[in-house]
Amino acid sequence: MTTAARLDADDATIVAASFNGEAPSIAYWGPRLPPTADLASIAVFTAPVTPHGLFDHGEAFSLFPEAGQGFTGRPALEAARDDGRFLTQFRFERFEATPEALTISLHDPLAELRVVQTLRLHPSGVLRADATIRNDGQALVRVQRFAAAALPAPDGEALRFAGAWTKEFQLERVRLGHGLVASENRTGRTSHHAPPFLIVGETGFTQTHGAVMGLHLGWSGSSEIFVERLRDGRLQAQSAMLLLPGEIILAQGQSFNAAPLYAVRDGAGLNGLSARFHRFVREEILSGRTDRPAPVHLNTWEALYFDHDPDRIAALVEAAGELGIERFVLDDGWFKGRRNDGAGLGDWTPDPQRYPDGLGALAASVRSRGMAFGLWIEPESISPDSDLYRAHPEWALGEALRQEPLGRRQLVLDLTCPEVAAHLFAAIERLVRQTGAVYLKWDFNRDFAHPVSAGRAASVAQVHALYALLDRVRAAHPGLEVEACASGGARADFAMLKRAERIWISDCNDPIDRQRQQAAFGLFFPQEVIGAHVGPGRSHTTGRSTDMETRALTALFGHMGVEADITALCRQDLETLRDAIALYKRLRGDLHSVPRQSLPHPDGSLLAFAAGSEKRQIISVAQLASSAHPAPAPLRLIGLAEQATYRVVLLTPLKQPRAAMNNPPGWVEGEGRQAPGSVLVGHGLTLPVMRTGDVLVFLVEALEGTA
Ligand code: DGJ
Repeated sequence: MTTAARLDADDATIVAASFNGEAPSIAYWGPRLPPTADLASIAVFTAPVTPHGLFDHGEAFSLFPEAGQGFTGRPALEAARDDGRFLTQFRFERFEATPEALTISLHDPLAELRVVQTLRLHPSGVLRADATIRNDGQALVRVQRFAAAALPAPDGEALRFAGAWTKEFQLERVRLGHGLVASENRTGRTSHHAPPFLIVGETGFTQTHGAVMGLHLGWSGSSEIFVERLRDGRLQAQSAMLLLPGEIILAQGQSFNAAPLYAVRDGAGLNGLSARFHRFVREEILSGRTDRPAPVHLNTWEALYFDHDPDRIAALVEAAGELGIERFVLDDGWFKGRRNDGAGLGDWTPDPQRYPDGLGALAASVRSRGMAFGLWIEPESISPDSDLYRAHPEWALGEALRQEPLGRRQLVLDLTCPEVAAHLFAAIERLVRQTGAVYLKWDFNRDFAHPVSAGRAASVAQVHALYALLDRVRAAHPGLEVEACASGGARADFAMLKRAERIWISDCNDPIDRQRQQAAFGLFFPQEVIGAHVGPGRSHTTGRSTDMETRALTALFGHMGVEADITALCRQDLETLRDAIALYKRLRGDLHSVPRQSLPHPDGSLLAFAAGSEKRQIISVAQLASSAHPAPAPLRLIGLAEQATYRVVLLTPLKQPRAAMNNPPGWVEGEGRQAPGSVLVGHGLTLPVMRTGDVLVFLVEALEGTA
């Protein structure tokens, strides 16, 4: 017997079906089905065949695959009872469907375990899968792995996300052969090197073509994400927390929640996938927090590092006010004893030598110049050289008699200890009250190797305690905004974004590298949450020198900020920066409400994208390396109405165009030209010759009544 249920998005449907009482599997995920569709008969068309040579029932691949049912891939659950029994064979009990959610109840009476899976399909087409396991029996149950769901994945290729400090969001395309393509992160943070993002799609998928599926785990700790070839040739994809031995032990009546899995399918390549995620993040993850414009920041880090000289800071404040900056964020270095990264974490009071009267006077002078005040803080960390550590060495995570390897010369506080959490809440409260800060840059600068609390593994509890602390701080200060940061982009995930307005995606402010990082991060996240700063002329992390225009026009397509010594800029750079800030203020209302779509171009040294709709698009074209060809191929636009007429206007004047070519294309000069959509889409527009670092930003707008 087949039992089936459906979930609908605006333009997509998922059908889950259970055959003969087995755990349900996904029978269909694609364009929206008519309301009258016969779900049981769809399952007849899509149910897998059973080849010879496997178990008689084939691979038992369901939304909750188990070894005990005859599933030989990586199962969704690995657990054992104290008496040694580990097999499970859950039976499907029932579906419960509401328009928003489909609940699947599973029960194994012998193992005395219950699992409830909940699938929610957002109108954008993004699926959120959750699962809870409960122990009904008397014996303890040790859980080693527990995934919210296993999903069927399209065959072909995978796009993996990798990286390192200052090199976050590197994409690697791999062919899906046999076995597993997996990224595992054991750092206790979302990680630089193996963040839980994965895209799987048909061979040759591009920005604009091909069936693709994107996966992300909403979790800020250790994790795994993988796609696996099953023995019958199908592919399963999963993502879950990585659990430490002995970490999750369920007594009778206790339950454990898997981290939520987010997934989307689209038939139109990466752009289709991004458009769905962008809408989902705006409506669901950021819900209700996106209606304010993202203010321009001045962040002090690369201007000052630890040199908090009062005169330098006063000059920065003044220069920031004159540039049109809207929020001044005092980064690391302001608190007691913090002369370098070897001391002070934990002592969250202003340094008495550099700030003898506290931070209040500085915050007031920031406000008097029309800017809001924001503050950097790293609550989870503690320096061995701090008053807090001297008073409470037992507050650090770790095991007695063992030395945790240091990271950035610091240790991690045990947030699961109520005393520690209360102490941190009070310290943050005091700072926010005393300074009137409306913004916290919440940093966390190390991986952790000994996540031990009271002698037991506590990596999961530590992440939940972090969420609880952030939630408490935010509840106490409803207007307070947060930036999620961890040595750059080691904490970029949907769970943090539920508690933050902005993500600092990398300490790399080199615009050439940043363009690609922002594009990769932008596959899952909309532009307004991407912290993007104009750094110094010579990048502190890559050593490359770039023009102010390149830096400013790269930061324009994120939540813009400046992180450089603006008191030392030459007049021309100041003017360029002031213009770019004004342009950002003019465009942000648009940029922060539309999807960002990549524009394919045959030259890999050029990166182009469009932000907008059929009526109006803002386009960026950046030359990131020297091209192999003297003149670029035309740039074909997408998403425009072919019959409409568009006005194309350059928003930033070309630098010395005639130095690079004899005759720049006519449309880059003057007040703008008109073209039919079919020319822009079908043929494309001629680009000027661009030298490395050149960025062209232009507006394409439909004439009234034509689109
Ligand atoms: C790492 C962050 O990514 C930087 O932006 C800066 O805040 C430093 N930490 C400060 O220690």
